[in-house]
Amino acid sequence: MDIEFLLNGETVRVLGEPATRTLLDWLREKRHLQGTKEGCNEGDCGACTVTVTSLAGDSLRHQALNACILFLPQLQGKSVRTVEGLSGPNGELHPVQQAMIEHHGSQCGFCTPGFVMSMATAHQNGDRNHNDVLAGNLCRCTGYAPIVRAAEAASDLPVPDWMTDETETLRTMARGGDDGVSFIPETIEQLANWYSKNPDATLVGGATDVGLWVTKRLMELPKLCFIAQVAELNEVTISDTEIRFGAAVNMTRVQEVMADYHPDFSEMVRRYGSTQVRNAATIGGNIANGSPIGDGPPALIALGGICAKARPPAACRLRISSSLTASRTSPRASLWPRFRSRVKRIT
Ligand SMILES: Cc1cc2nc3c(=O)[nH]c(=O)nc-3n(C[C@H](O)[C@H](O)[C@H](O)COP(=O)(O)OP(=O)(O)OC[C@H]3O[C@@H](n4cnc5c(N)ncnc54)[C@H](O)[C@@H]3O)c2cc1C
Ligand code: FES
Ligand code: FES
Repeated sequence: MDIEFLLNGETVRVLGEPATRTLLDWLREKRHLQGTKEGCNEGDCGACTVTVTSLAGDSLRHQALNACILFLPQLQGKSVRTVEGLSGPNGELHPVQQAMIEHHGSQCGFCTPGFVMSMATAHQNGDRNHNDVLAGNLCRCTGYAPIVRAAEAASDLPVPDWMTDETETLRTMARGGDDGVSFIPETIEQLANWYSKNPDATLVGGATDVGLWVTKRLMELPKLCFIAQVAELNEVTISDTEIRFGAAVNMTRVQEVMADYHPDFSEMVRRYGSTQVRNAATIGGNIANGSPIGDGPPALIALGGICAKARPPAACRLRISSSLTASRTSPRASLWPRFRSRVKRIT
C-alpha cells in the first residue's frame, strides 16, 4: 500500500512494504534510524517509543506509542517523531534530553531513547503525571528517581520552537488507502461494504494484540482492514442514560471519559498496560479479542454494556455478557462498531 506520513518533519512515501511491516523494523532497517531500540518486540518495555501526532478535529493529538507493534498503514496521514528528530537544527538538546543529563537519568543507555520520547511527548502535552507517563518504559539499572526528577525539571521549560506545528501539512496528507488486500476506510459505510465482501480479513484497531500475532507468533495476515481512521468509530456520545463509544476509541480516552461517570472504572483503566498501550488499544479490540483476561469486559458487563454489531448479515445489538461465548472466539468474526454502557453519574 502507498503510505504517506511525516518522519521527523519530512514527508515520506512508503511503497511496496507489506501491511504488517512494523514501524520499528522499517525505521531501523530501511531508514537506519537506530536510536529507536528493540527490547521485547511485544509492547512491554517502551524501548521503541516514538511520538505519533495526528489531527483531532482542529487540533493535534500527540501520543507516545510503541513502534514495535505499530504497522506502517496505521501511520497514514500522521507524523512520527523519533529520538533522532528531537534536538534543534544546530544540535541544541531538547529540554528533556538536557534534563536527563543534568539529573543522571541514564546508565547503560539502551532504554534512554524510549524514556526520552515518552517524556518529550508528555512535555508537549503539558502532562505532569510523570509516574503514569513513565510506567511503560523499563529501566533495570538507573532506577526511576533520577528519571522522574529529570521529567519534573523539564516540565517547567517551554516546548522548543523547533517542534513546529504540523497541522497544515497533516491536513493535506492522504488518509485512506486500498491496495486490494489491505484497506484503510475513512467512513463506516466504506468499512461495512468492504468487510462484507472480505469477511476473511483481519480487522485491526490498535494492533496491541494483532501486532503480537506478527512479531511473536510470526503469523501471515494476508488481508487487513485498519479501522482506526473511521471518524464514526472514534466518537463518544453521552446522554442521560448511556455512554456510547465508537469501537476505535482508545483506552486513554475511555479512562478520561469514565473519570466523570465511573471513577473506579477510570482508575482501573489507569492500570491497563501502559501509556503507550492505552494510546493504541481500542475498546473495540478489548472486547472483540475475546480474551479471558481482558480488563474491559468484566466492568462493562457489570454496567450492563451492549455491543452494536454492523453488517453482515444484519445490524443487531447484544449484551456484552452474551457476546463473549468462549475464550478467544466470538465476537471476533463480526464487525462491532459501537459499545455502550449505562451511565450512573457520580456527584
Ligand atoms: C504490553 C501490553 C499490555 C496489555 N495490557 C492489557 C491490560 O492491562 N488489560 C487488558 O485488558 N488488555 C491488555 N492488553 C491487551 C490489548 O491491549 C487489549 O486487548 C486491547 O484492547 C486490544 O485492542 P486493539 O485495538 O489493540 O486490538 P487489535 O489488536 O487491533 O485487535 C484485537 C482483536 O479484535 C479484533 N477487532 C478489533 N476491533 C474490532 C471491531 N471493531 N470489531 C470486531 N473485531 C475487532 C481484531 O480483528 C483482533 O481479532 C495488553 C497488550 C499489550 C501488548
Ligand atoms: S521493543 Fe519493547 S515495547 Fe517495543
Ligand atoms: S539506562 Fe540501562 S536499562 Fe535503562
